[in-house]
Amino acid sequence: MNLPKHIAIIMDGNGRWAQLKRRPRTFGHIKGTRVAKKIITACSRRGIKNLTLYAFSTENWFRPQAEVSLLMQILRRYLKRETENLVKENIRFSVIGDMSRIPADVAKAIENSIEATAQCTGLHLVFALSYGSRQEITNTVREIARRVEAGELSADDVDESLINSTLSTYPTPDPDLIIRTSGEQRLSNFLLWQAAYSEFYFTDVLWPNFTESHLDEALAAFSMRQRRFGKVSSNDNMEKFSN
Ligand code: FPP
Repeated sequence: MNLPKHIAIIMDGNGRWAQLKRRPRTFGHIKGTRVAKKIITACSRRGIKNLTLYAFSTENWFRPQAEVSLLMQILRRYLKRETENLVKENIRFSVIGDMSRIPADVAKAIENSIEATAQCTGLHLVFALSYGSRQEITNTVREIARRVEAGELSADDVDESLINSTLSTYPTPDPDLIIRTSGEQRLSNFLLWQAAYSEFYFTDVLWPNFTESHLDEALAAFSMRQRRFGKVSSNDNMEKFSN
């Protein structure tokens, strides 16, 4: 089976799942975290090299204060409890996003997990936290403009590969497969540049109900897709179109 080298997931539907059960939205986030843990292990065991989880967007800061602080505490607790397991599973942890807005205790837990797993060589697990793709691209443009201003680069040196290597995702390869749960079919400011040739997989399943078999369905769908990156596939030829 043709496995993606990088899967990115928009874990959507925690709130709706909880509301359906007449429970607070935060209950959905707690269940969602357990599911994230299972899916991380599943990806690692299937030999996936990179997994990016959209855990908190820049727009999520506008949610009610109580929900935001609970999500932050869930993250802190997850990292405190799970880091040992990550090391055992040989999973290297990192983050993308605006860490300056993350509360100090959560930032500390993030630092600890990054450090503890730095030597791991299996799955690379990335949490997108306080992440927004437009902000990331804006920072990248600003950084390159500064280097041009400082005379280190000329405007003609600005090309796709320079932009790529200045983005916060570098050197992780672009996602081959982006999964979004809960029936929404949009990117919501997630990896806009990096998703140029990604395959999208949308499912109506709410994130707290997402299981390993749903992951396998997504992987099976991915392996059936023909990725041409704007070219023609090797067994296609242009003669078909020349008459
Ligand atoms: C979307 O559901 C989910 C989030 C905004 C947070 C995702 C966070 C987790 C799954 C928990 C933390 C993750 C890890 C990996 C420790 P929603 O609240 O937008 O749901 P709704 O669209 O039904 O309202």
